[in-house]
Amino acid sequence: MKPFCRDTWVEVNLDAIRANVETFRSHIPASTSIIAVVKADGYGHGSVRVGEEALASGAESLAVAMLDEAIVLREAGIEAPILVLGFTPVESVELASRMNVELTAYNSDWIIQANTLLQQANLKPIGLQIKVDTGMGRLGVRTQEELLQVVSALEQSPKLVWSGVFTHFACADEKNTTHVRRQHETFQSLLQSLRDAGKKLPKIHCCNTAAAIAFPEWGYDSIRLGIGLYGLYPSPYMKERKDVSLVPALTLKTRIAHVKTATEPMTISYGATYCAQPGEQVATLPIGYADGFSRLLSNRGDVLYNGSRAPIIGKVCMDQFMVRLEQGTGQVGDEVVLYGKQGDEEISLDEVAAQIGTINYEVPCMLNYRIPRVYFRNQTEVGVFHPLTMKQTPQKTVNN
Ligand SMILES: Cc1ncc(COP(=O)(O)O)c(C=O)c1O
Repeated sequence: MKPFCRDTWVEVNLDAIRANVETFRSHIPASTSIIAVVKADGYGHGSVRVGEEALASGAESLAVAMLDEAIVLREAGIEAPILVLGFTPVESVELASRMNVELTAYNSDWIIQANTLLQQANLKPIGLQIKVDTGMGRLGVRTQEELLQVVSALEQSPKLVWSGVFTHFACADEKNTTHVRRQHETFQSLLQSLRDAGKKLPKIHCCNTAAAIAFPEWGYDSIRLGIGLYGLYPSPYMKERKDVSLVPALTLKTRIAHVKTATEPMTISYGATYCAQPGEQVATLPIGYADGFSRLLSNRGDVLYNGSRAPIIGKVCMDQFMVRLEQGTGQVGDEVVLYGKQGDEEISLDEVAAQIGTINYEVPCMLNYRIPRVYFRNQTEVGVFHPLTMKQTPQKTVNN
């Protein structure tokens, strides 16, 4: 039985994931390891399969934004180290210990409470990485005093093992390097203050994809490879630089659900914003904004059919939208590419991002649980993940 019924799916090319890991492996110093960032369900590609492929291709560990994402990976059988990059509510520290997941911290009270909870529950110690805010303004300690305070809290916490210290760059993808250099200098001086205080430093990391491309010499112990893993560049500027050649891993496909030819002027979709003229061939595609295909593409974007572009006409609906077929005669069931390559044509995630006024990161992340992910290796299908059909827990009976 087919693992899904709908005629819209994402194809993820695992060979591209492998190639991208290998590209970064040879771009950064041999002593620097790769942490594959698979948060947001692997930037929409599926965290389990991408995580497994990255690990099999040379990444040493995985990182996610929140503990729930780490649990998904553990439950899928991934045993490699996993780091939660974001905030974890302190009560969840017990689960992190049971699942052997490293957490991020930047506050001494949190550290003391976490240690107490683990002691009370008699659980195994967990790895803890300290986040330093050098100019992102999001999470982390900002001064030497705060940093030393957090380290001292950690040293008094036998259930917490200080395993790393890291920062995150805000502008590493820009041509102007003033901000990123300033952040790096601040990071260096905070690290120095730890050395001056006689601390033995754990693993150090600061580079996201952009910094790993532009400043591989800042790799320290690891880079945190996110967008580049998926074959996308962190910004148009980073793409222009041509330091590394990346292979996009994702293609979004669908099949025509209905075709008609206008015999008289025929309005299309909500708001009747497009009027097909006699002779125009209109195809209906079974995907819409409830799948994460942006409504901002209404009357604007293209799809690929028969290796050529076909414009989106009318408003994108919740589950469907229409295109004008300009090449050939469409048949129900014919394949259409929404993102990716068909023949010599390509609709890149960069192009879609520019059309809807966002960054390429957001475009695959928007593709949600309604869309099955089909994995390919060497052009052969090797697995399917369909979040929509995942089982729910049974409903509890509650008396009013
Ligand atoms: C803390 C942290 N590190 C690394 C990354 C990966 O960044 P990129 O996808 O630009 O490589 C992210 C993603 O936003 C992040 O939040």
